[in-house]
Amino acid sequence: MSVSVIILAAGMGSRMQSDMPKVLHNVAGASMLIHAMRSAEGINAEKTVIVTGHGAKHVAKAAVDYDETAQTVLQSEQNGTGHAVQQAAPVLHDFDGDVIVLYGDTPFVRSETLQAMLDEKAKGHGVVVLGFNAADPAKYGRLVTTDDGLLDAIVEFKDATDTQRAITFCNSGVICADAKLLFELLNEVKNDNASGEYYLTDVVGLARARNLTCAAIACDEAETMGVNSRVDLAAAEVAFQNTARREAMENGATLTAAETVWFAYDTVIGRDVIIEPNVVFGPDVTVETGATIRAFSHLEGCHVSKDAIVGPYARLRPGTELGNGVKVGNFVEIKAAIVDEGAKVNHLSYIGDAEVGSEANIGAGTITCNYDGVFKHKTKIGARSFIGSNTMLVAPVSVGDDAMTGSGSVITKDIPDEALGLGRARQDNKEGFALKLMNKLRAAKAAKTKE
Ligand code: UD1
Ligand code: MG
Repeated sequence: MSVSVIILAAGMGSRMQSDMPKVLHNVAGASMLIHAMRSAEGINAEKTVIVTGHGAKHVAKAAVDYDETAQTVLQSEQNGTGHAVQQAAPVLHDFDGDVIVLYGDTPFVRSETLQAMLDEKAKGHGVVVLGFNAADPAKYGRLVTTDDGLLDAIVEFKDATDTQRAITFCNSGVICADAKLLFELLNEVKNDNASGEYYLTDVVGLARARNLTCAAIACDEAETMGVNSRVDLAAAEVAFQNTARREAMENGATLTAAETVWFAYDTVIGRDVIIEPNVVFGPDVTVETGATIRAFSHLEGCHVSKDAIVGPYARLRPGTELGNGVKVGNFVEIKAAIVDEGAKVNHLSYIGDAEVGSEANIGAGTITCNYDGVFKHKTKIGARSFIGSNTMLVAPVSVGDDAMTGSGSVITKDIPDEALGLGRARQDNKEGFALKLMNKLRAAKAAKTKE
């Protein structure tokens, strides 16, 4: 049975106090929209349709940038969740299968939970709703169940009686139904309610009127956490980080001060990895078994292989590939560079747009001068080469295998294998000069104090 997902993302999110659409705000390095799209990915959604409204252009671009097959539709007026889902009808008219509706501002619904809804739906229900037992049911829609545990209706808080308001089993907003049925039912939805909106939730009552059964399955309240304000956004970040930290430790990583390590939505950490305090992971980082990430390092878009040691105070930027056992030390920045097995870049260096051969040693203060103000150029550093401290490698340039550079060199020409490249002024010692100069200066000072 195939499934498609509709993500509602048209709302303004006025409480965010932002010029940016709410769903584009980040949690763990990815917009909430992308979190929802990844949930859809996890159940192999055939089509993912994003309903845009406020900031439609930006939301649509973010969706397609993440997944070029994503489809977006515009809901120009926000007339309710039912009306929002209806906008996806033209895109799904030839789709045969189940549809799941997600919210773009509810980033943590797990694919496993969506799969459980599909499994429940496969038992023959018309509509399956994801519910949760709310600690504080506040203004959530209430799930009215029958004696045999089936779902009878969803009643919005505003429209609920006191008895219904006493129910704590609430609607998360996630709904699953057969595509054809869903759009048929939505055509019957009216807006004669307290909000004057077309409620998606009304499809439950309408399905029941057709003698179809409906069901609700429950998930953890944390999973359905929605974001409406910056305070909620911060709470969502905390929730994400706590889960990510616990998972990393459960999978065999040591986090010496777990509460100070910040993961991205997609960070992959192997077994026996040690992560020291205050490490920040941006998107797209993989750290393999046995590697150590020392304190105050910042990593994004990089791959750290087995037993490598990074930091303290290292910065790995996108396109960095560290081989097995590589060492990157303090105040080193690496970008778009492959550093082969066993190479060392231990202190105060910038390595960008480069290849560093295995077992090479990059001396303190070495810089690949990769940018001429307009273009970026490449530096190749051979295996087992020794780059003297404070070498400027003016790219494009290459240093051969087993080659060397003299400290302080400005290297502008390729260095062949096994050669020493020197590019600095020759030293000239003037005998007695230092003393003579000092005496002169001291005499000048003495004359001045006498005046
Ligand atoms: C909705 C549910 C409620 C549930 C709650 C969970 C309905 C009628 N009510 O209420 O039962 O407990 O979510 O959080 O569905 N949106 C659009 N276009 C619209 C309206 C909404 O795209 O015209 C989007 C919003 O941007 C938001 C989501 O749909 O992401 C939910 O809308 P919201 O207005 O927050 O619904 P609630 O009133 O909270
Ligand atoms: Mg809401």
